[in-house]
Amino acid sequence: MTTLGLIGAGHIGSQLARLGVANGYDVVVSNSRGPDTLQDLVTELGDQARAATPAEAAAAADLVVVTIPLSGIASLPVAELAGKIVIDTNNYYPQRDGNIPALDDESTTVSELLQDKLPDSKVVKAFNHIYASALTEDAQPTGSDNRRALIVAGDDASARLRVTELLNTFGFDAVDLGPLAEGWRIQRDTPGYGPRMNDAELRAATVAAKRYRDM
Ligand SMILES: NC(=O)c1ccc[n+]([C@@H]2O[C@H](COP(=O)([O-])OP(=O)(O)OC[C@H]3O[C@@H](n4cnc5c(N)ncnc54)[C@H](OP(=O)(O)O)[C@@H]3O)[C@@H](O)[C@H]2O)c1
Repeated sequence: MTTLGLIGAGHIGSQLARLGVANGYDVVVSNSRGPDTLQDLVTELGDQARAATPAEAAAAADLVVVTIPLSGIASLPVAELAGKIVIDTNNYYPQRDGNIPALDDESTTVSELLQDKLPDSKVVKAFNHIYASALTEDAQPTGSDNRRALIVAGDDASARLRVTELLNTFGFDAVDLGPLAEGWRIQRDTPGYGPRMNDAELRAATVAAKRYRDM
């Protein structure tokens, strides 16, 4: 049995928890306010789920998802996440997250920032360009016609492969963008950010993407 840890249990975290339980994972959910505030979600998810602190969720999990506003990454449990695959769903919205100069001048990307914060983890970017509700609405079995595709990006090839398997299990094809530095191809305001696309459409959209400075 694989354990999926969620740091963040809002729109995306709760949906990924639902997909985890539906696909046979044990799930540990966490947020900033504490496990007591997650009892309704845990009740809905059933026996395969429990609530914990972010550090406990990280320690218990084989795969961890960080799905919180970007401004929250400073408080992540770095030690408990060491050695783990950490899936990053985060996006940068300055009006929500405050201005981050290295993202404003495009000298880095959202998931590279997380990788810098978690040097001993294997960060993989995924699930950042799909609306939360579509995670359950658009999921389809392997081999379905016109199946929706989602990206993976990460500096560790084996971690990208593991998350590709997870995407497939959860109901999606995967488009491998390569290293984290390529993650800008699916950032806010790029053609692939949001709409439902199959593998060929998403590949074309990520090739056509432009940096903010070139828009
Ligand atoms: N919503 C979407 O459709 C969507 C789609 C793709 C990607 N994303 C991205 O995914 C991330 C999460 O989005 P969301 O819409 O799911 O956010 P959300 O609904 O606002 O939920 C955020 C969750 O993060 C928790 N949290 C906040 N700060 C935390 C911290 N320091 N430590 C632990 N948990 C913390 C919150 O817990 P408390 O309530 O206890 O603070 C809450 O459970 C964002 O970067 C967003 O841009 C969102």
